[in-house]
Amino acid sequence: MVDVLLGLQWGDEGKGKIVDYLAKNYDIIARFQGGPNAGHTLYVKDKKVVLHTIPSGVFHGHIQNIIGNGVVLDPVTFKKECEEIESYGVDLKKNLFISQKTHIIIPTHRALDKASENAKGSAKIGSTLKGIGPAYMDKTGRNGIRVGDLLAPDFHAKYDALKEKHFQLLKQYDVVEDITEWEKEFFASLDKLRSMNIINAEYWLDDKLKQNKKILAEGAQGSMLDVDFGTYPYVTSSNTTVAGVCSGLGISAKYIDRVIGITKAYCTRVGGGPFPTELHDEVGEQLRATGNEFGATTGRPRRCGWIDLVALRYACMISGVDTLIMTKADVLNEFEWINVCTSYKVNGLETTEFPYNVCDAEIEPQYTEMRGWRRSLDDTKDLLTMPAELIKLIDVIENHTKARVKFVSNGVGRDQIVPI
Ligand code: GDP
Ligand code: IMO
Ligand code: MG
Repeated sequence: MVDVLLGLQWGDEGKGKIVDYLAKNYDIIARFQGGPNAGHTLYVKDKKVVLHTIPSGVFHGHIQNIIGNGVVLDPVTFKKECEEIESYGVDLKKNLFISQKTHIIIPTHRALDKASENAKGSAKIGSTLKGIGPAYMDKTGRNGIRVGDLLAPDFHAKYDALKEKHFQLLKQYDVVEDITEWEKEFFASLDKLRSMNIINAEYWLDDKLKQNKKILAEGAQGSMLDVDFGTYPYVTSSNTTVAGVCSGLGISAKYIDRVIGITKAYCTRVGGGPFPTELHDEVGEQLRATGNEFGATTGRPRRCGWIDLVALRYACMISGVDTLIMTKADVLNEFEWINVCTSYKVNGLETTEFPYNVCDAEIEPQYTEMRGWRRSLDDTKDLLTMPAELIKLIDVIENHTKARVKFVSNGVGRDQIVPI
């Protein structure tokens, strides 16, 4: 069976920590979309590690990890990540597998990302500039290079042809990018990738499923960044919702069991685009400072706001989320009052539907004000020891989303999590 774990907001919900925590219940952790735009933080022996492409189960000896065909992989980031993980004594040759069909990001993808963003002016998406959009464009445009191609004798010819195509595109942006250094790094990183277990992943996974192995599919980004259902065009270039799992791993939908969604107790977004509950005042500042809301991949300050149950309900609906995990509850410890957005006024009309025209409409979030718990959650071990105000907040979330909150995370540490 396959359980799926998804971020339900605009990313950075704490997926890395939660996958690391849940990993003990699984045999395999699988990444099915996204790429080095992701930054999943976890702690190993009290040291912070940020994973970009490699699944967050990699520090558990018994677990196998797989990078699926739906991921776009940058060999340069990948090599650095491997070296950091290997410095902890992890044997990646034993526990990491990569689909031959995973597309790779080449240096000119990054150059195109930058040129495309610059050309957008004030309508910038705020991309991580890791080459994600251009790499997925080449995938669907049928020009891409896949990990399996690295092993073929015509790899260099394929690379040169794609690079040439990209240079032509860059000319249209009036950009001449010197990629000498990027290219050096790129070619120096390829042998690392070639030395890994590059496999026919669909057959490998089918075999595991037939052996009744338990798989956790680890989402990257969040539902509101989904290319179809997010706040388009301010989104990433993959399906971050449950639909991405089958196409990003090559497994049948009939194997999907639980869909677990992660939400922060408030909301953040990094980069451009609509964010109805964003706070531009000192409350937003307080959330950023207390929650240490700075990007794990780019270091950019994250925009902060109240939890948005209109967006959350929508995200749960799209993916059929049955289990919720709330992270960063501890960040609200000091707040006397907490706001929860339960509906929007869109151009003056009240609705609980997430609107199509979210980028253009005037959206006024309608809030329910709730009392905060004003104490540390360090001693909260279960529902009995949980502050009544937090239980109330959970009730409101469950009522709106119709999903059950099963865990509340109350700190960055591996064991700072409360089952309920
Ligand atoms: P991901 O992309 O969803 O894996 O999330 P990130 O790693 O980008 O960002 C989440 C940040 O919140 C990381 O710095 C985590 O260490 C931190 N974090 C996760 N859960 C909690 C929590 O319950 N409380 C606090 N204070 N921090 C948390
Ligand atoms: P994790 O997995 C938060 C955002 C970028 C930008 C938009 C498009 O750590 O939750 P892209 O690089 O894909 O072209 O950027 O999406 N974005 C993320 N925001 N967390 C992420 O990943 C993100 N990955 C992309 O900031 O607004
Ligand atoms: Mg992140």
